[in-house]
Amino acid sequence: MSKDSGTVFFCKECGYESAKWSGFCPVCKTPNSFVEAPKSSSKSGARTVPRRPEQAKPVRLEEIESAQDARYETGFPELDRVLGGGLLPGSLVLTGGDPGIGKSTLLLQVCGHLAASGRKVLYVSGEESLSQLKLRADRIGRFAGDLLFLCETDLERILSLLKEQTPQIAVIDSIQTMYSPQAASAPGSVTQVRECTNMILGTAKSLGITVFIVGHVTKDGTVAGPKLLEHMVDTVLYFEGDRHAAYRILRSVKNRFGASGEIAVFEMRSSGLTEIPNPSAYMLSGRPENSSGSAISCVMEGTRPLLLEVQALLSRSSYGQGRRTATGADYNRVSLLLAVIEKQLGTSFSDQDAYVNITGGLRVNDPALDLAMVMALYSSHRNIPVPSGLMIFGEVGLAGEVRSVPFAKERVQEAARLGFTACILPKSSLGADLNARGMKLIGVADIREAISVLRE
Ligand code: TYD
Ligand code: MG
Repeated sequence: MSKDSGTVFFCKECGYESAKWSGFCPVCKTPNSFVEAPKSSSKSGARTVPRRPEQAKPVRLEEIESAQDARYETGFPELDRVLGGGLLPGSLVLTGGDPGIGKSTLLLQVCGHLAASGRKVLYVSGEESLSQLKLRADRIGRFAGDLLFLCETDLERILSLLKEQTPQIAVIDSIQTMYSPQAASAPGSVTQVRECTNMILGTAKSLGITVFIVGHVTKDGTVAGPKLLEHMVDTVLYFEGDRHAAYRILRSVKNRFGASGEIAVFEMRSSGLTEIPNPSAYMLSGRPENSSGSAISCVMEGTRPLLLEVQALLSRSSYGQGRRTATGADYNRVSLLLAVIEKQLGTSFSDQDAYVNITGGLRVNDPALDLAMVMALYSSHRNIPVPSGLMIFGEVGLAGEVRSVPFAKERVQEAARLGFTACILPKSSLGADLNARGMKLIGVADIREAISVLRE
């Protein structure tokens, strides 16, 4: 039995590589996720990326020419903002998301705009036939300029076409369908996805081609092939939201050329995606007036303040022990906040089912949402509506204290812009520079003070 059998093991979920098989992945802890794959084709394990002679010798900073800041406009100002001010020529962008969420539609629209503004674009699809691409294009509208389509899954042929045609922008839709005979395993496998991305990266960087790679998402929300593609590319964009709802949120999880965490909100219409320039107003549309269990908060998404509605519902459990459900918010956070309210106000929720929902399909991690969740829960518990025109933000600590969060000024201004008249915020955030434009600011030190506003 030889140890060096020429194969390695990969975790299907996170891409972790190991020489030994294991019952569960030591990194992402998924059971039975290890698959066997042949070792990298080159004996030394060296990558097959073409060498770039111009980078072979070290240089001083002064000798490096600054990249001219001529970025491509994508035709969507919101997408340009997420990309950090447009698409940087020569960059590699991974676009991930659930099937059917609109990745191909977005990229086709971007390609259409880039071609119409005089750039040479190649769209490679390994998923759809030319006639299917045509059907989608017909829904979106008219296309002009140098936009070429290719249905192909053989990566070698795609790479040679890229060298021959040298388009300025290329789309690979999707990386899971691409196949390179150099990596002897099935398309979509970890080895294939990694090897194909590496080869595309090498060719694109050496020819200065900007490449969009579409990556499908596995059930647990990681880009398949999975996380392992994220470190290879310059920018990772990720589509969130429910594909049955009209809106979709595009978020940059990584961006070498701009701030990450920025979002753009799109709406899927019958003629493709349209961007929503004022997402706060969009998130709040249709909210119930004067109903208990609903509170408005402001979270930061990248550099942008975004108003959203937190809904809570407490109802008597039919089975003794109450359940907790959180949609869009962190489950553990909801349980923790319920425990804080119980302790501080001397109530008990153990026989109550508690549901917390962030409307708009957004997943929020900003601790500034805590206080609004507390208010929404209390409002539902006592059946007292939160006054309309009131926005609430602040982090809640275990002792029930309300702690300050960054960007207080931006949050207050966003609420003022949308016509809110009062704001509950951490006392420690009250400062001279909040510039509330006539808004009533109520600084609170703990959750009792915040809740007393409801009783008034
Ligand atoms: P698509 O871009 O094919 O998704 P992905 O590439 O992420 O799998 O989007 C498909 C969905 O969008 C499909 O359900 C149809 C819908 N759609 C519209 O509602 N309007 C349109 O104009 C287009 C092109 C698609
Ligand atoms: Mg698609």
